[in-house]
Amino acid sequence: MNILITGGAGFIGSHVVRLFVLKYPNYNIYNLDALTYAGNLENLKDIEDRPNYTFIKADITDGEVIDSLFKSHKFEGVIHLAAESHVDRSIEDPLAFVKTNIIGTVNLLNAFKQCWDGNFNGKRFYHISTDEVYGTLGQKGLFTESTAYNPNSPYSASKASSDHFLRSYGETYKLPYVVTNCSNNYGQNQFPEKLIPLFINNIINNKPLPVYGDGNYTRDWLYVKDHALAIDLVYHEGLDGETYNIGGFNEWKNIDLVKLLCNQMDKKLKRPIGSSEKLITYVKDRPGHDLRYAIDASKINKELGWRPSVTFEQGLEKTIDWYLENKEWLDNVTSGQYKSYYKKQYN
Ligand code: NAD
Ligand code: DAU
Repeated sequence: MNILITGGAGFIGSHVVRLFVLKYPNYNIYNLDALTYAGNLENLKDIEDRPNYTFIKADITDGEVIDSLFKSHKFEGVIHLAAESHVDRSIEDPLAFVKTNIIGTVNLLNAFKQCWDGNFNGKRFYHISTDEVYGTLGQKGLFTESTAYNPNSPYSASKASSDHFLRSYGETYKLPYVVTNCSNNYGQNQFPEKLIPLFINNIINNKPLPVYGDGNYTRDWLYVKDHALAIDLVYHEGLDGETYNIGGFNEWKNIDLVKLLCNQMDKKLKRPIGSSEKLITYVKDRPGHDLRYAIDASKINKELGWRPSVTFEQGLEKTIDWYLENKEWLDNVTSGQYKSYYKKQYN
């Protein structure tokens, strides 16, 4: 079985690649990644020499390259994670999100369709999507699989569009697909543009912690390894044409999460309790900032038996420990380009 995992050098993708390479020695796992600022082969150093693992540097926006890779490798399964993934960057440069998230996804769908030419038995195209396609919740309620799409940022609009293309290929060409819409992930190897690793890095360096608006925005946090386990389950046991929501059963207001993180970091760094909290700085809000995301994950729980394996406190501790033990990784990804991104976004 040849399985193509796109975006495997990124945060979630690297955890999925590792899980599949180690758990399924009979699968040939191909990790296709363009190695943008978010892609980092250091994330996969421990498995790069495995005989069932191959890295392909390629860009999903290049349709010809994608077609020829499908011709030569006949990928029976696709787990598609490659994307531009940061909301703030989508506000600055929406077109980059249209190119990778929409055109890139359609290129993959076309190549898969052409490769199998209707002979889809035993084949599967799995898109890793986001809960942000549903827009925002008020103070109450949960996103279910039948919540109408109502994306508010260029990022979520591009992910919603790619989900629609996927569904349309299922209807029109009978392409066998499955999609999951997941909540906010956190954990090892997350690029420090996202809330948790950015704040960990700033606490280490005694830099201000830029909380957007009043900090009363709510997200539902899931440990990345639990997401990878859910992806394994859905890839193997999910039903064609179905959507599964994946969430952490774990809602936090940003400001409460930041205070918990500050407290845990003070303990780890052996600083006086309260010193990291002093770094909290309220800054200009994100335009179109979604108030609240919260997932009803009862379908994947009831139908496939998945639920998160760690509590938030446990997951956060593992995450902090990893960043503290991998200072070199953090220093490498925060040098160069990151500095100009940071200046533009926060100054
Ligand atoms: P990430 O930004 O860490 O990684 C994205 C990866 O895609 C990088 O390795 C990058 O090099 C690669 N990539 C980008 N453009 C590419 C292109 N044109 N061609 C080939 N590769 C390209 O993202 P992540 O946080 O790991 O998210 C992975 C997927 O999961 C995305 O599709 C995202 O929408 C989705 N998702 C993320 C979260 C989250 O909380 N991070 C939650 C739900 C869903
Ligand atoms: O819900 C799933 C989505 O979660 C994924 O699809 C996205 O790829 C992923 O980036 C994430 O989106 P968010 O916008 O929710 O994540 P982010 O870490 O950027 O922000 C989390 C919350 O923290 C959000 O309310 C904005 C706030 N925030 C973020 C940053 C980077 C701040 O207050 N300050 C910051 O500096």
